[in-house]
Amino acid sequence: MDTRTALVTGAAQGLGQEFAVALAGRGYRVAGLDIAPQAETAGKIPDYLELVGDATDDEQVRAGTQRVIDRFGTLHVVVNNAGVYPAKPFEEITPEDWRRVMRVNLEAPFVVTRAALPHLKAAGWGRVVNIVSAAVFTAPPDMVPYVASKMGLIGFTRALASALGPYGITVNAIAPTMVRTATAERTVGAGGGFEAVRAGQVVPRTQEPSDLVSSLLYVVDEGSGFLTGQTLNVSGGSAFL
Ligand SMILES: NC(=O)c1ccc[n+]([C@@H]2O[C@H](COP(=O)([O-])OP(=O)(O)OC[C@H]3O[C@@H](n4cnc5c(N)ncnc54)[C@H](O)[C@@H]3O)[C@@H](O)[C@H]2O)c1
Repeated sequence: MDTRTALVTGAAQGLGQEFAVALAGRGYRVAGLDIAPQAETAGKIPDYLELVGDATDDEQVRAGTQRVIDRFGTLHVVVNNAGVYPAKPFEEITPEDWRRVMRVNLEAPFVVTRAALPHLKAAGWGRVVNIVSAAVFTAPPDMVPYVASKMGLIGFTRALASALGPYGITVNAIAPTMVRTATAERTVGAGGGFEAVRAGQVVPRTQEPSDLVSSLLYVVDEGSGFLTGQTLNVSGGSAFL
């Protein structure tokens, strides 16, 4: 097998960093696209390509994917991980709040995948992985735009799988439960959030970023060519759907 190249969005911290490090550990050449600098991630991955840019911005994303090709020559795996998950009572949500969530969580995967597609096609093999959320199953009342965006991303996953199947490209989604990342600890997990989610799980502990790695590696595996259009519910049994 050729050395595979992966592009991970939102790789500066949290799940994206975990995924980038895990792929590098399996021999992938890894590029990360984040609106923030990625010194910590770069420090963990030799030959890491750090792309600082906005995943919702077509021009910046195109420039970033071109840099991946300039540096590594190929692109095989895209992990659409960048996301935001603000919690707010429904009646306080402004149209701007709504649009921001939709742009980062739903439009960015479109923009990034669209820019990457010619390179995946040229490689004749590809894996697109979209990070969604088990919140689509549990539907928390204070996360209406988030749930809508991630449900939209599941629809994107399914229809895109149909569109890209002929090119040897699979498209799948992974749905974590609440994961202990710095952002979650500061926001949704604070004030008893982790405990509340854990109480609804069958697995009696809080999910760590490392708990998602085996699912990612399974989805991108050479042997997973018949797995496409699927959403892996990796939520510790918080919803059996
Ligand atoms: N942490 C959880 O509890 C949890 C649960 C289920 C799903 N998820 C999903 O997993 C993904 C990662 O979550 P996390 O907790 O690691 O988040 P995080 O906040 O730790 O990391 C997200 C990264 O995305 C980057 N980012 C945000 N907007 C961007 C943009 N427009 N362009 C480029 N980069 C951008 C941020 O700078 C940040 O580095 C998200 O899609 C989230 O919805 C998280």
